[in-house]
Amino acid sequence: MHTEQGAAYAGILGIGAYRPARLVPNAEIVEAIDSSDEWIQQRSGIKTRRFADDSETVIAMSVAASRGALEQAGVDPRQVDCVIVATVSHLLQTPSAATAVAHEIGTDQAAAFDISAACAGFCHGIALASDLVRGGSARYVLVIGVERLSDITSTTDRGTAFIFADGAGAAVVGPSTVPAIGPVVWGSDGEKFDLIRTREDWRDVLASEKPVMPHLVMQGNEVFRWASYSMAKVAQQALDRAGVTVDDLDCFVPHQANNRITDAMARAMRLPAHVRIARDIIDAGNTSAASIPLALERMIRDGEAKSGDVALLVAFGAGLSYAAQVVTVP
Ligand SMILES: CC(C)(COP(=O)(O)OP(=O)(O)OC[C@H]1O[C@@H](n2cnc3c(N)ncnc32)[C@H](O)[C@@H]1OP(=O)(O)O)[C@@H](O)C(=O)NCCC(=O)NCCS
Repeated sequence: MHTEQGAAYAGILGIGAYRPARLVPNAEIVEAIDSSDEWIQQRSGIKTRRFADDSETVIAMSVAASRGALEQAGVDPRQVDCVIVATVSHLLQTPSAATAVAHEIGTDQAAAFDISAACAGFCHGIALASDLVRGGSARYVLVIGVERLSDITSTTDRGTAFIFADGAGAAVVGPSTVPAIGPVVWGSDGEKFDLIRTREDWRDVLASEKPVMPHLVMQGNEVFRWASYSMAKVAQQALDRAGVTVDDLDCFVPHQANNRITDAMARAMRLPAHVRIARDIIDAGNTSAASIPLALERMIRDGEAKSGDVALLVAFGAGLSYAAQVVTVP
């Protein structure tokens, strides 16, 4: 039997983003949840977020973000062997969003599948893509994090209505001559399965007298404590496994869950002052699987991250599930 020979190393070759056109300030959210702009900013950091309109579907946003990533990478869509879409808000049970995206961007029938790892989905996708490239199963892999959380968030739920938002980010992963995606540190804690979840499954919905779209519910306090306490440790393990220290870091790109969680992690890790920290949440909200590529794309665009910089990605969310890795900025 023959085996595939993959690339010595893998790296992120390009990043792309799609942000829905409609900007939604806190003022538009507060009345339905008896809240205030001040409270939301103080508790989460969020000032505005974006909600997709009917034309900005999960697939359309994924395609737009992918085109940007492919362009930056200088990779033709026909060279893409595999498309991975991380999402929890593609509302068709089957087929996957990835097959439509692979077709629309013009791949040559690339392998395509979705993964469900909530806010940790993009970093799971990067880990898979890196191993596919190094294992020889694919040369170029497109990893997309995309959400339309506005579809599955209740506008009257005080614990979530101001947090969740929409958008898409994409990365092209391919061969590299130097190590550019570090070992992943990932895992799950299914004991905390109920902390962030859609409230009911489709059978419960159909059995109810007034069927409504199942929406996200979250025990915010518990999630806050878990993330602030545990994720700095996971981040440190990712640094250790990549053989770098906080002093070697240029950028810290945590999942944009809550600015106070980001602050707690940065403090616990004792990040030096020179490390630039992603704060995309301020005007993008929490876009779950899309948040890390969106935040990284913005740092590159704003000149806060430059090609060759060392960045630490840390993602965590429903499951609970988490994944972290050190990457080189494309
Ligand atoms: C959601 C979150 C901001 C809520 O903040 P909190 O301090 O935990 O809020 P609590 O539920 O303990 O409520 C504290 C007070 O604020 C009030 N409150 C809750 N939601 C509110 C809202 N949307 N607006 C105004 N007041 C609110 C409560 O009534 C309570 O008032 P009281 O002290 O008078 O009883 C916070 O838990 C959080 O950020 N958690 C992490 C969520 C997250 O990042 N999730 C994404 C993971 S992927």
